[in-house]
Amino acid sequence: MSRDAIHDPKLHRARRTRLLEALGDGLLLLPTAPETLRNGDVHHEYRPGSDFHYLTGYPEPEAVLAAWRTGRGRHRAVLFVRPRDPAREVWDGKRYGPALAQRLFGVDAAHPIADLWRVLAEVLPTQPRLFHRLGADPAWDQRLLQFFAAQAKKHRRREPPAHPVIQDPLPVLAAQRLQKDQGEIDALRVAAAITASGHEVAMRAARPGRHEYEVQAALEAEFRRLGSPRNGYASIVASGANACILHYHENDRRLRDGELLLIDAGAEFAGHTGDVTRTFPVGRAFTEAQAAVYRVVLRAQLAGIRACRLGARSDAPHRACVRVLTQGLVELGVLRGTVAKLVAKERHKPWYMHGTSHWLGRDVHDVGAYRDADDRPEPLPRHAVLTVEPGLYFAPDDRKVPRELRGIGIRIEDDVLVTARGPEVLTAAAPKSIAAIERICAGRAGID
Ligand code: GLY
Ligand code: MN
Ligand code: MN
Repeated sequence: MSRDAIHDPKLHRARRTRLLEALGDGLLLLPTAPETLRNGDVHHEYRPGSDFHYLTGYPEPEAVLAAWRTGRGRHRAVLFVRPRDPAREVWDGKRYGPALAQRLFGVDAAHPIADLWRVLAEVLPTQPRLFHRLGADPAWDQRLLQFFAAQAKKHRRREPPAHPVIQDPLPVLAAQRLQKDQGEIDALRVAAAITASGHEVAMRAARPGRHEYEVQAALEAEFRRLGSPRNGYASIVASGANACILHYHENDRRLRDGELLLIDAGAEFAGHTGDVTRTFPVGRAFTEAQAAVYRVVLRAQLAGIRACRLGARSDAPHRACVRVLTQGLVELGVLRGTVAKLVAKERHKPWYMHGTSHWLGRDVHDVGAYRDADDRPEPLPRHAVLTVEPGLYFAPDDRKVPRELRGIGIRIEDDVLVTARGPEVLTAAAPKSIAAIERICAGRAGID
């Protein structure tokens, strides 16, 4: 059965209770992610919807959660799932079915998915609101409209009852998911540890003559070996100037001595992902120019991590990184002028064109607001997890920078948990200092 199955009924009940208390009275209707076709009759690998999995731990497709408050701090949760089907199970693997779903996943009841609309017709009239995110999946919106149409038809001779107010539960759910609970922190710690180990294995596996995809294979083999069923996003394995393409994905170039290799990859574990970038020499050591850029990016990253303090503005890490990167661009001979003025004019942008941080959790770009309704940065809340990922990218044909910098792209990324005791780097085990990286590079077997 799927490694996405998480049987922790108390944890999921607590999450649902918290959500429903915050939403108030109404029926939450939450489908999991649909299966998607890759081609013909072949599906993409299935991954449950993040919100659904957060509230249920249930791994199979074609499942829906319905939940509503039954009193202060109490609720009823019903799962609708694929029924057992011995003929289909021969082809596609075992299914839980309603009986096992109810027993293992701690819901109050579970029914075959075909019963959804019948049960909804009973429950919905007792509820003042329907919490459902319109627009997330047009197929579900359509089913809901058809349901309302069918309900209206039943009352042809009389005034049909008004359909309930439909309210989007996502803002409340996203704010809840932004602050990780113990189950999420535990899963993220494991995802981070697996991710760090994969990066170290990749550092050992890289060498001149190998291809980017061979290093990718070594990295991802380590992820799988340690129990990660899949990556949280497509691995970026970018050698030389490919590192200047932010979402490079071909991963098919041959590595050359004297160049750097940038790897941005994260292992998923129990529905949560790491997100780490390391940049290191293909050969034994950094060149002088590479080391000079690396030191600037590392200094920026450490400043960004220090800025991840509880209650700090959510853009504090970015501001800290931009300041250090701008100072570094002056030291590298790329910019001229006073740092404060250069920062005010955002003169770093040709070489640092992306943001520094995003929320991290189940999704690599996880849910949660960064700014309030007045566009002011939100304060960093307790147990939020965010990345800190500054970089500098000097394209090979960039005539505005000294020749020796051209073709160098460096990013360093870690995952940080915000705590009352200060920032905790979950991915600290991935080698990062020049000394630690060069020790690994120089110690690789089979390099002449
Ligand atoms: N790996 C995607 C990112 O760093 O945002
Ligand atoms: Mn990231
Ligand atoms: Mn990344």
